[in-house]
Amino acid sequence: MALYSYLNPQCFMLLLCLISVFSNGTSDSPPLTLDYYKSTCPTVFEIVRKEIECAVLSDPRNAALIVRLHFHDCFVQGCDGSVLLDDTIDLKGEKTAAGNVNSLTGFTLIDRIKNKLESECPGIVSCADILTIAARDAVLLVGGPDWDVPLGRKDSRTASYALSDLNLPSASEGLLSILSKFIYQGLSVTDTVALLGAHTIGMARCVNFRARIYGDFETTSGTYLSNLKSICPAIGGDNNIAAMDNVTPNLFDNSFYWTLLRGEGLLNSDQEMYSSVFGVETRMLVKKYAEDPIAFFQQFSDSMVKMGNITNTDSFATGEVRRNCRFVNT
Ligand code: HEM
Ligand SMILES: *[C@@H]1O[C@H](CO)[C@@H](O)[C@H](O)[C@H]1NC(C)=O
Repeated sequence: MALYSYLNPQCFMLLLCLISVFSNGTSDSPPLTLDYYKSTCPTVFEIVRKEIECAVLSDPRNAALIVRLHFHDCFVQGCDGSVLLDDTIDLKGEKTAAGNVNSLTGFTLIDRIKNKLESECPGIVSCADILTIAARDAVLLVGGPDWDVPLGRKDSRTASYALSDLNLPSASEGLLSILSKFIYQGLSVTDTVALLGAHTIGMARCVNFRARIYGDFETTSGTYLSNLKSICPAIGGDNNIAAMDNVTPNLFDNSFYWTLLRGEGLLNSDQEMYSSVFGVETRMLVKKYAEDPIAFFQQFSDSMVKMGNITNTDSFATGEVRRNCRFVNT
């Protein structure tokens, strides 16, 4: 897999073109603040928490869905709720882009929270902010760290299918290509390895790990591999799912990093962080977070705030607070 990333010309193309696009980072947008809704919607945190709590209690997978939704929102035009928009005649949304189609869910849960908030404080809380608070709550409720969530994002009036394809990392990608996508967003190598720790919860579809388990997957447990192969046959069963952290799949802990130390990372992209010959720094970080859960929790919290801070500068000028997260206001 290391050779693959070395030889992959797309990866180098990407690095080059990223350097040229990376200079649009200046922003006049107002900074996000912790007390943004203090007077306009003081119950926002309670309302989001209650709904997420309910959802996670009924199925812990819901925590994973929401965290991933927030990530995929922020990597495309910034955290602006663009990922939540449905396709319409006038707008091509992001939901059918390669990284999202047949995979991203959790939209009805966001709808439910939005409805509650619209009856409590109509027209106040943006969908992008809902998603950000919900992701924090989701992590916390499955045993992860807690952190304060800066707020004040606006919802975009646009989405980008093209940027979804370009910016979202995929499981078959090499290390350098993945790192370049995070660096493009203003995130560091440390942020990347820490954020990837989110794979300590949630599931992946067979189509995203078949090449890996029939390839260079190493494990000391023959039953684990044969289990994976029975979930994910060489042909068919593309949508069958397996946990990325096979030890504690519903718990937000640092055991994901231990899977990488064992060579059992389910996604090729995950294992690359530890095993790629280019991954001197990432390997060191994987070891660190495996050994030190407190350091992982601290860095994950900081990196989530940083990821949540990726800004769509346009959305402050042209953005809005959507009434329905699936559609721009008319
Ligand atoms: C390094 C780049 C990353 C790659 C290549 C990647 C790729 C993937 C893939 C392929 C899946 C399985 C999707 C499916 O099979 O339907 C997945 C699931 C997931 N990802 Fe990532 N991911 C990355 C980073 C992140 C980050 C930064 C976060 C959050 C902070 C995240 C959160 C999640 C979660 C929670 C799931 C489980 C979702 C579920 O259970 O449905 N991922 N990721
Ligand atoms: C968030 O972004 C603003 C610029 O938009 C910057 O001034 C601030 O330092 C960032 N905060 C964090 C925590 O990254």
